[in-house]
Amino acid sequence: MRLTDTGDLWWKTAVVYCLDIETFMDFNDDGVGDFEGLAHRIDYLAELGVTCLWLMPFYPTPGRDDGYDIIDFYGVDSRLGHHGDLVEVLRTAKDRGMRVIADLVVNHTSDQHPWFKASRSSRDNPFRDFYVWRDEIPKGAPTNVFPDKEDGVWQLDEKTGQYYLHNFYHHQPDINLANPKVRDEIAKVIGYWMELGFSGFRVDAVPFLQQDGDPGVDPHELLRSLRKYLTRRAGDSVLLGEVNLPFEEQYEYFGGEASDELTMQFDFVGMQNLYLSLARQDARPLADSLRERPVLAQESQWANFVRNHDELTLDKLTEAERMEVFEAFAPDEGMRVFDRGIRRRLPTMLAGDPRHVRMVYSLLFSLPGTPVIFYGEEIGMGENLEQPGRLAVRTPMQWNSAANGGFSRARSRRLVAPVTPDGFGPAHVNAADQRTDPDSLLAFFEKLIRRYRASVEIGWGELTIIDAGVDCVLVHAIQGTEGSMIAVHNFSSDPQVIDFALPNGMGSNAELVELLRDGGVVADEKGRVSLALEAFDHRWLRVHSTDDKRLS
Ligand code: GLC
Repeated sequence: MRLTDTGDLWWKTAVVYCLDIETFMDFNDDGVGDFEGLAHRIDYLAELGVTCLWLMPFYPTPGRDDGYDIIDFYGVDSRLGHHGDLVEVLRTAKDRGMRVIADLVVNHTSDQHPWFKASRSSRDNPFRDFYVWRDEIPKGAPTNVFPDKEDGVWQLDEKTGQYYLHNFYHHQPDINLANPKVRDEIAKVIGYWMELGFSGFRVDAVPFLQQDGDPGVDPHELLRSLRKYLTRRAGDSVLLGEVNLPFEEQYEYFGGEASDELTMQFDFVGMQNLYLSLARQDARPLADSLRERPVLAQESQWANFVRNHDELTLDKLTEAERMEVFEAFAPDEGMRVFDRGIRRRLPTMLAGDPRHVRMVYSLLFSLPGTPVIFYGEEIGMGENLEQPGRLAVRTPMQWNSAANGGFSRARSRRLVAPVTPDGFGPAHVNAADQRTDPDSLLAFFEKLIRRYRASVEIGWGELTIIDAGVDCVLVHAIQGTEGSMIAVHNFSSDPQVIDFALPNGMGSNAELVELLRDGGVVADEKGRVSLALEAFDHRWLRVHSTDDKRLS
């Protein structure tokens, strides 16, 4: 690996930060976050060490799916500002060395989108085949993504007497991706935002791009053509896919060996097994899923995450495993959603235990791949279970301990969402207090990110899971051409003593330097290392060689 490669493939070592403009920072005091507010918080994000912002949908919307129901792919929701304000955000981010990607939601539109209004107006409208219409509900139709809200995926449109497809809410009709005109429109949308300065897209709901029918859609062919188009316009732009599927299918969505489809994908399987490991205090489920992860081509990358804006889905676990995680982290029915997920954030699930929370984030930043964080994770925000469904984790960012957590100066009843109530509310959890506290979670995140960014092997290197002889401890090595590290995570609430062998190539008598604390250990002449770990301990150890040129 050469330095030039690392720079070009920026996403291999990025720190991605996801935020929703409307809940981040309100600058004009109307109770809704805005682009101007975000522009004023770019320095906060730069200091944290973020290198890429992922903006959740900011397009005009009736707001029936928190912005994932779009009525104009080229527009900006006027509550958030206008295009000029957005460009200021892009410019400021660029100035601080930060990339920006946008949510690309092209599986469906809002039913208020002009295309759909035209499409449903009559069977012979030119926009009719922009959507998927059927005379009858096809046999074996899948269940809806929101089973507690929708009966199925086909909705009868009374006026024209046909059914339209909607994998999500009935007010989110699926676009007909088999239609070349629709594909062309999507390409133009991509081209438009690229010209404005975006570095790529988080592609929403990828598995649903596949629609059976006549003609069917080959989502792989679609993604290949979009990737080609995207990289023709800007070679260093990315498609980060939301693909909650088993690894084999994810591998196909990377484009298999050709790696010419999605550039990055979230590791949903790993995330779910992480929670199973946490619930059991047993590292093996996570270790197994890491072993099963397909090895990717150099320019492809896994995106690791602990929490996102949706429910913490557990759909890839078995029923019994899911119940174990539910019982550990969402004991009340009201903490769950869709029978498959949890609507809480990490610190509340871990009863606010800082050792446990830090262990999980240490893991996140040390797993091979690129970490993605959801706003507020860096300060340990909790959720508001009084909010319906997935909105529980989409509360305003907590900037300080003042009214509304410093998010807005509007009256609290005008806020886009209520601030998290006490316990994890702004009086206890806020960015301003943590910025001046060297022992805060925020300070811990800053350190983790600094170490992560100085350890390029995490993004590039080769993973080895090391047998530590104790099921509750995960020991993994990442070996890169510029250096190697070992990470150790104790999933148990009890202290442990472990003894393990360094993988081949790391040598005997190797010196292991602690990266998150002072000190170090030396391997014996057989290359074995002994460590005493505290409850929920986490350690990063750089394997030092004499020709290491790095700063840390
Ligand atoms: C994705 C989004 C989710 C949204 C859905 C429909 O899964 O993450 O928030 O509701 O797509 O667009």
